[in-house]
Amino acid sequence: MAENGNDNAVMSADAVAREAEALGAGVPREDVLKLAKGEPLLELQGLHAGYGKMEILHGLDLAVAKGQSLCLVGPNGAGKSTVLHSIFGFTQIFDGAVRMKGTDVTRMSPAQKLAKAGIAYILQDNSVFPNMSVEENLLMGGYLKPKSAEARAAAERIFEKYDRLANRRKDRAGVLSGGERRLLEISRALVMEPEVLLVDEPSIGLEPRYIDMVFEILADLQKSEGKTILMVEQNAKKGLSFADLGYVLVSGRVALAGEGDALLENPEVGRLFLGG
Ligand SMILES: Nc1ncnc2c1ncn2[C@@H]1O[C@H](COP(=O)(O)OP(=O)(O)OP(=O)(O)O)[C@@H](O)[C@H]1O
Ligand SMILES: [Mg+2]
Repeated sequence: MAENGNDNAVMSADAVAREAEALGAGVPREDVLKLAKGEPLLELQGLHAGYGKMEILHGLDLAVAKGQSLCLVGPNGAGKSTVLHSIFGFTQIFDGAVRMKGTDVTRMSPAQKLAKAGIAYILQDNSVFPNMSVEENLLMGGYLKPKSAEARAAAERIFEKYDRLANRRKDRAGVLSGGERRLLEISRALVMEPEVLLVDEPSIGLEPRYIDMVFEILADLQKSEGKTILMVEQNAKKGLSFADLGYVLVSGRVALAGEGDALLENPEVGRLFLGG
């Protein structure tokens, strides 16, 4: 958090982690389900997951309803990115389940998640191919579509929606601004027409003027296209004001979960994560 300037300088990362650990004794599954209106589109139940033999997530429950947005916050190393990795199929899952619309998708590969389960993971940070055109980059997002015509049609719909990409379609992606590049990264995930977007730190590395743009794009995808958004955001204030729901993750466990606004107003959350 320190690099974002929203950490408070007197508290070390270790101290934040220690105090965060004392924040809450965990969140009962009934409460997690209630926050998702009792009808989760995507649900994690008792998930134990990690890398190799190392367990990072220790029995995580999480639920998000269709059209809701949820933001994970918490100290560095808490396992926020690992939650997204586990949903998309990049980790070892030791126990528990990932369900999409009630169907168990725990063991699906990332390609199956994208093509069959309707879950997309938005790669961040220079994942565009700089020597390919904007259009070619966008079409790459549709490589799992059974027919290339379908990918083309989806790409055209995206160009119709985003003028700023359409105007640059023949340009090399390498010449895009940081904000345009992030828009291209998001758009590339949209070609597969996913229902759920997993977004890891959408604002990272962006100049402030582009950060609002990225959040506006995500808000529009949620509000006008009914996308479900599960994001991680270092800028906890931004993330929690954006999202319907917030989870505070500490040492691979959910310490607190609630509506984003309520967490923003929680003095302990404020002190530990909002630099207040
Ligand atoms: N590919 C990997 N292989 C092995 N260990 C990993 C891998 N990725 C992350 N870890 C470990 O898992 C733990 C949780 O990391 P994770 O990236 O999920 O944290 P995070 O909450 O996203 O942190 P940050 O805020 O710094 O992004 C850390 O101890 C990290 O070292
Ligand atoms: Mg991370």
